[in-house]
Amino acid sequence: MSKLVLGNWKMHPGIRESLALARGVLLGIRGKEALPEIVLFPPFLALPEVHKLLARSRVGLGAQDLFWEEVGAFTGEVSSRILLEVGCRHVLVGHSERREHLGETDAMVRRKVEAAWRAKLVPVVCVGESATERESGGAEAAVEARLRAVLGGLAFPPSARLVVAYEPLWAVGSGTPALPEQAAERHALIRTLLVRDFGFPVAAVRVAYGGSVMGENAYAFLREPEVDGVLVGGASLKLAQFLEIIQAASDVLGSRNP
Ligand code: PGA
Repeated sequence: MSKLVLGNWKMHPGIRESLALARGVLLGIRGKEALPEIVLFPPFLALPEVHKLLARSRVGLGAQDLFWEEVGAFTGEVSSRILLEVGCRHVLVGHSERREHLGETDAMVRRKVEAAWRAKLVPVVCVGESATERESGGAEAAVEARLRAVLGGLAFPPSARLVVAYEPLWAVGSGTPALPEQAAERHALIRTLLVRDFGFPVAAVRVAYGGSVMGENAYAFLREPEVDGVLVGGASLKLAQFLEIIQAASDVLGSRNP
């Protein structure tokens, strides 16, 4: 199975910088074989331009959010319909920064997952425990509760796909990643929950790790069989770092299929 390398650019680059970054990624992977599945998540307004650049390349395009309705009086929101028009195939849902700064709740995230599936977009659902939950020994329970609230009881549509990004809140943007073995353990729990408890098809579900992934630690995460990929924030904005992460994924893939 391939590995995912997802680059979440957040609100950092403008349109011109987004184009330059995307161009750099394309140049950096030129001629390379055994590539992971790469998806870039630029800010909304950069999507159409970046799409022109990525169209017919091996790099996919995703959005950082979507609204749960397809059309209507929802000032300022962006629908799945628009995302499809600008070439997105993936969409981040429920990122911890949206939960923290915009009050996004489990119920809202759940509706967004359903909207993504209706539009045949691949939702990348972010979940993770807070520092307090971790310190009190409640990390696993917190992640499970959040996943149950967001995904439990949903009917998995035929031919849909799902990525769950395990992103411990204390690791996001902090420079302190989880230990790869710990992440792998949590991924195994997440997968069990999705497949055994929710009945989701195992082949359609991927579990990626996010939180201070960098060039120097990416290999350690990606070589874990339970880690299907990485969701990269800060380091995805530094071209050399991001290419190093892609290379780490290629190395892992290459070592499996010599
Ligand atoms: P980070 O962000 O890599 O900067 O920790 C990850 C994310 O927010 O998805």
